[in-house]
Amino acid sequence: MHQVVVIPGDGIGPSIIEATCAIIDATGAGIEWIEAEAGLGAYERHGTPLPDRTLSLMGETGVALKGPLTTPVGSGFRSVNVAIRKEFDLYINLRPTRSFAGVSTRFSDIDLVLFRENTEGLYVGIERYTNEEKTAAEAIAITTRHASERIIRAAFEYAVKHGRKRVTIAHKANILKLTSGMFLEIGREIAAHYPSIACDDKIIDNMAMQLVIRPEEFDVIVTTNLFGDILSDLMSGLVGGLGLAPGANIGDKAAMFEAVHGSAPDIAGRNLANPSAVLLAGVMMLRHLGLDDHAVRIEKALDEVLREGAHVTRDLNPNGVGTTEMRDAIIAQLKQ
Ligand code: NAI
Ligand code: MG
Repeated sequence: MHQVVVIPGDGIGPSIIEATCAIIDATGAGIEWIEAEAGLGAYERHGTPLPDRTLSLMGETGVALKGPLTTPVGSGFRSVNVAIRKEFDLYINLRPTRSFAGVSTRFSDIDLVLFRENTEGLYVGIERYTNEEKTAAEAIAITTRHASERIIRAAFEYAVKHGRKRVTIAHKANILKLTSGMFLEIGREIAAHYPSIACDDKIIDNMAMQLVIRPEEFDVIVTTNLFGDILSDLMSGLVGGLGLAPGANIGDKAAMFEAVHGSAPDIAGRNLANPSAVLLAGVMMLRHLGLDDHAVRIEKALDEVLREGAHVTRDLNPNGVGTTEMRDAIIAQLKQ
């Protein structure tokens, strides 16, 4: 019996987490879900967006499935997602993107994997006003050899393990000669140890353009925190949107699985959210737990529901169904 902390989160979170847990349970994976709170809802109920109980449960089990959390824009508390990633040193943010038959997009046969550095860069949260009038502000970006080496090595190790051909390092070393320049330099050093994997690099702005024109030319991509955040949303757009893009935050002692997307306040509470992204994060979690058979079964059922195209949410088909109906269609498919 695997114990997993489940954090429903804010906005559309509870509905898509509920659907995901129901689908995973329907495979007989036998997960013991331990519910915990985080995010805006936790803040309103407990005065903190990240209660100690949630942190200690995550420390004990080492595995969490998390719905999106609302982070106030501009002022207010800092991102809880970033706090959790830092607390458990979840240094790998692994974000795979692939095409699904039946989901019509400009491209087909996309199969990309992004490795996003998850602990530093511009996300360290060191910001301040530089004058009393608050008319100027600065942010500090941190790059360390330690964090760069481990994320780049993780990308190459993944490439070897999964039979991938190429790793592309995305950077801005022409302008950010130290913070991004060091990342690129370390990337080239590490690439030399993996002669069987081709390695190239692209400046981030060009990378964004190349990805929307020739996505098939890319394979594994490794980059720093902010660039990875932006590229992963872009990549989801290539295959049908944020409703289909999962992610895993992985460290040496703990892992947290979530969608790439946020709490989608614009559609929350209306049974509109696509559960697939969190479900695919759940599939990554099952593999992490060694439950590969259960993972494969869910993937096949989801693929079939997407391919058939009727019982999918309205982000994919304007004449589609609600979150709960899509959940039921996937469960029905699992039982066939
Ligand atoms: P968002 O990802 O929540 O939504 C962007 C757009 O995609 C919206 O139009 C939304 O309706 C749509 N969308 C997202 N997920 C969908 C799904 N499953 N099915 C159908 N449509 C979906 O990004 P936004 O609006 O910029 O952020 C909202 C909140 O989420 C913010 O407070 C932000 O801080 C937070 N956020 C949290 C994340 C996390 O918990 N890891 C990640 C990204 C944002
Ligand atoms: Mg993001």
